Amino acid sequence: MNGGIENRISVLFVCLGNICRSPIAEGAFRAAALQSGLDCHVDSAGTAAYHLGSPPDRRAVAVSRTHGIEIGAQIARQIVHDDFFRFTHIIAMDPANLSAIKARAPRDGPACIAMLMDAVKGRAGEAVADPYHGNADDFAATFGVISEGVDALVARFVRDGVNLRL
Ligand code: 4NP
Repeated sequence: MNGGIENRISVLFVCLGNICRSPIAEGAFRAAALQSGLDCHVDSAGTAAYHLGSPPDRRAVAVSRTHGIEIGAQIARQIVHDDFFRFTHIIAMDPANLSAIKARAPRDGPACIAMLMDAVKGRAGEAVADPYHGNADDFAATFGVISEGVDALVARFVRDGVNLRL
């Protein structure tokens, strides 16, 4: 990942449970990248272990489906040490998860660690709010915010490639 063999863009989206926000981000980013012809590897994970092995929340699956994005086959997992070396970019959904990721990051790990909304001009530092205790409207709002974030992120990757820093 230092300009050597590993120069393919690989993005890991991370939230708390890996059943709501990061699965939507994974699906939406994959779709936007495909549309832009961006070659990349995409995955998602949680900082917590609450939902290991579970599919995404049915409300996340439903809202994604209304936008033509299928995320139902994803399986929740927790971020692991290897992720810091396998991914060029680790993208958190909110400041709490950003802190949790950074606390586990190896000192000289090569991955760029940032938040999704850092990719959007004028919205750096903004959280993608946790919709878990909300309703379908909250999930629709979450999808909208994530969609803005991933579209901006894809555009930044198209411009800067694997060396993108947020
Ligand atoms: P996510 O949402 O981090 O977007 O997947 C949550 C899912 C589960 C919980 C919290 C947030 N939970 O407390 O179980």
